[in-house]
Amino acid sequence: MRIAIYPGSFDPVTYGHIDIIERASKICDKLIVGVLMNSSKSPLFSVEERVNMLNEVIQHIDNVEVCSFSGLLVDFAKEMDANIIVRGLRAITDFEYEFQMAHANHILNSEIDTVFLTTNIDYSYLSSSTVKEVAGFGGDISQFVPDVIAKKVYNKYS
Ligand code: PNS
Repeated sequence: MRIAIYPGSFDPVTYGHIDIIERASKICDKLIVGVLMNSSKSPLFSVEERVNMLNEVIQHIDNVEVCSFSGLLVDFAKEMDANIIVRGLRAITDFEYEFQMAHANHILNSEIDTVFLTTNIDYSYLSSSTVKEVAGFGGDISQFVPDVIAKKVYNKYS
């Protein structure tokens, strides 16, 4: 069984993430979306909120499970019996960070490989930070996240 992990902060999940989840789910038997718990980024949403939001927007995909994790990604992958890490690549600016992370993870566990999916061109500009910045100033985020997520983001700033 081919098990892959799609890790991230998902603070909040965006249409860009959903696109990667939909596509990654087609190239593995089981996709685990791993939500990082001990982020040093002081997230807007708690890890429970981020897991719940992801669960709400992936209901249409059968072979996806959402879990939170802390510590090293490779340890979480091993615990889940996954040997593929999926990451989305938006633009060349993502590349250096992703390249370093993929190599570091492979050195930490040589049985785990990182697979990159190019983000849909429609979402190549999109990040969770953009969503928060626009929402924080009362802007329209309807093109960035599903309505159910947009409501929760606006609530945080109200
Ligand atoms: O959505 P993000 O914030 O870009 O995701 C980053 C994430 C969660 C994939 C990365 O920070 C991570 O894997 N953290 C876990 C700690 C770890 O394993 N670090 C070593 C990787 S070099």
